[in-house]
Amino acid sequence: MCGIVGYIGAEQAAPVLLDGLDKLEYRGYDSAGLAVFDGEKIQIAKARGRLKVLREATHGGEKLPGFCGIGHTRWATHGIPSDRNAHPHFNEAESIAVVHNGIIENYLKLKKMLETKGYKFVSETDTEVVAHLLDYYYKGDPLDAIMRMMHRVEGSYALGIIFRDHPGNLYAVRKDSPLIAGQSKTGNLIASDVPAILKYTRDVYFIKNEEIVCLTEDGLSFYNVDGEEIEKEPVTIQWDVSAAEKAGYEHFMLKEIYEQPKAVLDTLNPRIRDGRIEIEELGMTDEEIRAIRKIYIVACGSAYHTGVSAKYVFEGLARIPVEVDLASEFRYRNPILDDGTLLIVVSQSGETADTLAALREAKARGIKTLGIVNVVGSSIARETDKVMYTWAGPEIAVATTKAYSTQLIAEYLLAMKFAQVRGTVSQDEIDEMVNDLKMIPEQIEMLLGQKERIQRFANRYIAAKDIFFIGRGLDYAISLEGSLKLKEISYIHSEAYAAGELKHGTISLIEEGTLVAAVLTQEELYKKMISNMVEVRTRGAFLLAVTNVGNTEVEKAADYVIYIPKTNKYFTNSLAVIPLQLFGYYVAIGKGCDVDKPRNLAKSVTVE
Ligand code: AGP
Repeated sequence: MCGIVGYIGAEQAAPVLLDGLDKLEYRGYDSAGLAVFDGEKIQIAKARGRLKVLREATHGGEKLPGFCGIGHTRWATHGIPSDRNAHPHFNEAESIAVVHNGIIENYLKLKKMLETKGYKFVSETDTEVVAHLLDYYYKGDPLDAIMRMMHRVEGSYALGIIFRDHPGNLYAVRKDSPLIAGQSKTGNLIASDVPAILKYTRDVYFIKNEEIVCLTEDGLSFYNVDGEEIEKEPVTIQWDVSAAEKAGYEHFMLKEIYEQPKAVLDTLNPRIRDGRIEIEELGMTDEEIRAIRKIYIVACGSAYHTGVSAKYVFEGLARIPVEVDLASEFRYRNPILDDGTLLIVVSQSGETADTLAALREAKARGIKTLGIVNVVGSSIARETDKVMYTWAGPEIAVATTKAYSTQLIAEYLLAMKFAQVRGTVSQDEIDEMVNDLKMIPEQIEMLLGQKERIQRFANRYIAAKDIFFIGRGLDYAISLEGSLKLKEISYIHSEAYAAGELKHGTISLIEEGTLVAAVLTQEELYKKMISNMVEVRTRGAFLLAVTNVGNTEVEKAADYVIYIPKTNKYFTNSLAVIPLQLFGYYVAIGKGCDVDKPRNLAKSVTVE
């Protein structure tokens, strides 16, 4: 997703902006740019490619002197990645500069209207419409022009705006795309996300939809869409800058894989007291829990995969019917929602546009909603009725690992709580499961100890064309995640299949030496899985098995086995995922891929 930064204060703006954009690189981008007011005019520098290109072109920002500016990293939506399409964008008089994250959905209509009034466009972007529209409405009052623009523009935006005639002010406004503001010792800042300003302050203002912020050198003021001044309280960010740095690891992804034991512990501990499950933030009475007749779990990508896992856990433990939906599908299929439904949305970033839209769809129908979210204060966290935070800390790598693992933990805890209240499991069973949960962090540590062995195995497959993941039940759910981890960072084609489905099509794809990763941790399905492994092996496949320690039976059907420690059958995904994450990581490394910032991907997909 695009990254926005803005600064106004006593320091030279350009170096501060470049540093902020540096911290937003993880969001994924293909070009970058700066606009700085130099005392007379607004100077702009833009460059396709990595931030390094812009930094070199501006001599680290020295070529753009001035104390007020905006910066941008662009993830192309409308218009190819190019210098011309990079942000910031000007109006014709070059008196207004704009950076934007989001999509202006009615930009073509607005562009036509503006062209009839003589405006000339130089880029293919939707964003440039905003610069000309502000020009069209500007009569000397920036706030007035911004409010008028807001009433015309449809879609999602986080905008940073500077006006040549008002050099002492920097404006920002948001609708659906994330935007924060903060104060440093020397000035004031806006950004798309916390890492960009955390070195200056940990007291962050989360800008809400249709709020406008005006920054001066001395302070910030906030307005609503009608131009009325409003008060806002900052949120204090708990994690520190180092948490958002690599800390000696080669990649953020490896660091975050290794942070999983702590992330799981931090997510677990606040919710287990004296052996009992306490989820205070749930805010539901026992009667309300007993009244739940159906759960929808709605999310995207890996968060969706945790929902597929959670379905088995909720239905197995609490006997509540669960439907798991891709957010982008849920919102368009007119789902059947009634008052006994609980909607759970799962999101690391809390800004995923499809998930946010699905949440709003359910809320509009009066459905009770719960968020499982990692980023404190994010849009989804603020818009769900209740939010259960995963305490994974900042996750920078595009491919999620620790956030995924903490989402599973949150779902286990919810399912166990619901089962406890609804009496579908005994206290003894709960006690045993709590003990199993507490073991997971150190069991993850143990699996991380197999890193070298997994790396050696992964190196055999860096030239692979297709890799399949198969499993049944919960093992199908984790196969989905293992397959996504591999393909999104190594660019190797991969599919996850319910093992029983192989004979209904996929098995035709198996050739001599095709790698099939079979996950079998559900004892009651061992036999079925082994016969599926034999099916593909007799057709030339090479079998990697991920199974429970002690299941040596599998060795007669597998060429390579990774054992995971024993745990409750509902929790095995939390362990099986570790070797699969490491496998994907080392295949990608072996291929020389940009693991933390895979091509075409963004950390938070804030556009539909
Ligand atoms: C997972 O590795 C991907 N980065 C992606 O599928 C991600 O899980 C998905 O975009 C959802 O993001 P969210 O959890 O921030 O909503």
